[in-house]
Amino acid sequence: MDTQQANNQEALKEQIRKLEEKYAAMGQDLSSYLDGLLYSEYLTYWDYINLDVLLNLQQPRTAFPDEEVFIMYHQITELYFKLCLHEMRQIQEKSGDGAFMAQRLKRMTAYFESLTKSFSIMIEGMEPEQFLKFRMALLPASGFQSAQYRMIELQATPLIHLARHDLRSSLLEQKADIPTLYSHIYWNQGATELATGKKTLTLRQFESKYGSTFLAMAHEMEGKTLYDMYLDLPDSEQGPELKESLRTFDRQVNIDWPLVHYKSAVRYLKKNPEDIKATGGTNWQKYLPPKHQFRIFFPDLWTKEEKEHWGVPEKMGVL
Ligand code: HEM
Repeated sequence: MDTQQANNQEALKEQIRKLEEKYAAMGQDLSSYLDGLLYSEYLTYWDYINLDVLLNLQQPRTAFPDEEVFIMYHQITELYFKLCLHEMRQIQEKSGDGAFMAQRLKRMTAYFESLTKSFSIMIEGMEPEQFLKFRMALLPASGFQSAQYRMIELQATPLIHLARHDLRSSLLEQKADIPTLYSHIYWNQGATELATGKKTLTLRQFESKYGSTFLAMAHEMEGKTLYDMYLDLPDSEQGPELKESLRTFDRQVNIDWPLVHYKSAVRYLKKNPEDIKATGGTNWQKYLPPKHQFRIFFPDLWTKEEKEHWGVPEKMGVL
């Protein structure tokens, strides 16, 4: 046996010793697990990423080919939202660590940048004639019902910043509690029937599935949102890089993405008032533009002038 072989054998023995230690610590017999290793199949790419399941998750409701584009792009978006929430959870677990927060925020801004840039797939990537038809077969479902989108908001900022813009100062004055703030959440305004002023079915379904989860999350996040965690950091940890990443994230979620998303609604739904029915008859033209919603996760990080022009990037001078 040459030296190389002898070294390899030594390394192997050491690995077995460590494995024995690991399994013994849990009261397990290493030899049985080694048998398992002997008989088990090699891992494949398709099994590892669950490819068959993934590629079977597209179930169009109509025969229009562009419906597949619509479904898959929503799925892609939800995966990015999931990644974002994944990072947010880790930041919460390491609260107090400004460098970690800055690093993970960079990832979150990369996800949202990708979403904003790729939204042209929605704006230009479907034939309007097809869209307007298959959309009717999807009523009353709407991207409005994306729970992960709302969870990102609930974890980013205290509930007061997500309350209706016109009620915020009075709610703040009366020191409104979480359930009161939640009853005035901004998104209720986007799901009111134009004709009757009543909550749409889209909203009623959404509330019945997720209302209690959102309220529980709002309670859980009290004092622990991304904004709270940033404000709790000592000055020395609130560096310019972290501040810039927070501003970028705020701008992406509350201006850039809403603007490209709004553009798609204008492209497909604006022309004919009849087409608005395709959205369930909501006041989306007033509701969706970010300057009307005036959602800001981290208000102290923006100047007075920037806030005055919120939602109008040319005037804010931040893009
Ligand atoms: C052609 C593509 C799209 C059109 C025309 C469109 C249209 C609309 C409209 C009109 C609304 C207002 C609520 C309603 O009336 O239902 C809305 C809300 C919403 N949509 Fe879309 N949408 C499109 C694509 C997407 C995609 C790909 C997503 C990704 C998940 C998405 C997520 C949302 C969200 C989160 C809201 C709520 C926004 C808020 O409350 O501020 N939409 N959409």
